[in-house]
Amino acid sequence: APTDPETADVLVVGSGIAGCAAALQAAREGSDVLLVTKAERPDDASTDWAQGGISTTRDEPESLKADILEASDGTADPSAVDVLVENADDAVEDVLLETLEIEFDETDDGEFDYTREAAHSAYRILHVDAATGTHILRPFLNHVDGHENIDVRQDTAALDLVTHEGRVHGVLTDEEPTGHPIFAGATVLATGGVGALYTRSTNPDDATGDGIAMAALAGADVADLEYVQFHPTAYAGDDPFLLSEALRGEGAVLRNGDGERFMDDYHPLGDLAPRDVVARAVETEREETGDVVLDVRTLEGEFAEEYPAIAEKCRDRGIEGEEIPVAPCEHFLCGGIDVDDRGRTTLDRLYAVGECARTGVHGANRLASTSLLEGLVWGLRAGEDAAEFDVEAEIVEAPDLRNSDPDLPERFAAEKSIRLKRTMDEYLGLERDPDEIARASAVLRRLKGEIDAYIRTRTARDLYELRNACVTALLIARAASENAESTGCHYVGEGDEEKATRASR
Ligand code: SIN
Repeated sequence: APTDPETADVLVVGSGIAGCAAALQAAREGSDVLLVTKAERPDDASTDWAQGGISTTRDEPESLKADILEASDGTADPSAVDVLVENADDAVEDVLLETLEIEFDETDDGEFDYTREAAHSAYRILHVDAATGTHILRPFLNHVDGHENIDVRQDTAALDLVTHEGRVHGVLTDEEPTGHPIFAGATVLATGGVGALYTRSTNPDDATGDGIAMAALAGADVADLEYVQFHPTAYAGDDPFLLSEALRGEGAVLRNGDGERFMDDYHPLGDLAPRDVVARAVETEREETGDVVLDVRTLEGEFAEEYPAIAEKCRDRGIEGEEIPVAPCEHFLCGGIDVDDRGRTTLDRLYAVGECARTGVHGANRLASTSLLEGLVWGLRAGEDAAEFDVEAEIVEAPDLRNSDPDLPERFAAEKSIRLKRTMDEYLGLERDPDEIARASAVLRRLKGEIDAYIRTRTARDLYELRNACVTALLIARAASENAESTGCHYVGEGDEEKATRASR
């Protein structure tokens, strides 16, 4: 064993809401916690980009449960959804209201100004205009960073898990000397999603599926990876950004290239249909009629006043007027590392929370404003469970990467990453086809071979991120190829009958 190993009772990898919640709860239980993030600024996590809000149940857990099950087309796991809805309001009260004292928007009467998003049957979403993630994450990180039991370390990427006889003992990081191990009693992955596998995404650029790949390579089970959710309303131009579903929840409408509203032709809930339905409808209308826009003139309030952060992004892109061109864009991975109701993976002492985890709450299609909530609830539960372990017995011989060459030929990672994204865009996007999925798998396998040839001797962070993206992409392709049924976000072609119906409209 190393002479002076670095240790933590609980090691958390990732600094979004789920990682912060896990760190907080483990620290509250008395654990010595280290939270590492590869981001240069810890608040550069997907949570910071979340707009619409965080759902509560407003004391009606059964109602939220019904909406989650309905949006998932009956594929969400009811027992996981129970865990979410039964713990939602307490978690929000405890962490967001009492500990962090977040000032969610209120009405003139001093009541919470609950909003609504697509496929929600009630106004139950807490928000701070449509920049809710930022307003949650920044105070959360300040709190976590100031906690006496928690250290936060940025610009530190986990390269691989340290495993020994089926148990996870921590991670190897890219800190100097490269491959520096951190040993832990329990390791919590909170590494977020897979936006960087696609050209257009609402995630930060470094959402490369790290946790999913590291866990899968160590032998953990993964599930539901074919369910990649595309948000229907991202800005259609370069450098896309999200136009929150809350806009439609508050009266904005979609119009096609002929200026007509179309969502009523696709679903009884019209513009507020489940996200997968709206995303495919927008794509279809774009193909058949030209640019689709989100018309914010019909909003109940004033766009620029109610949604200043979104309005500013529109101004930055030179969008004048109140009809914003939109197109679907990769947004959220519904599946991930398979976990139980406390975030435990199938590997001993390894937890996963937040977007990288598959709890069963989302099934084939996630309901809006449940991802921050899931991260919070499962983060707290995993943190509490992980706190049972301390690090004393967990120091093992770690693989030694120190003699490796840290450098990578310039441009290798950038060029391969473009190839990977193009493959995912083309073959594993909104609509899939078995032959195309097979083609994607072949391209990705070749790419993995090229990456592996370098991984044997080099430890550059870019290379590991590319490896992680490629492994996760291959797992998505495999899951998609094994599921011939169109459900939620996994849509395999379209039946002849549907084509004929559309053609006759
Ligand atoms: C949005 O604001 O539309 C995104 C909300 C979510 O993905 O839950």
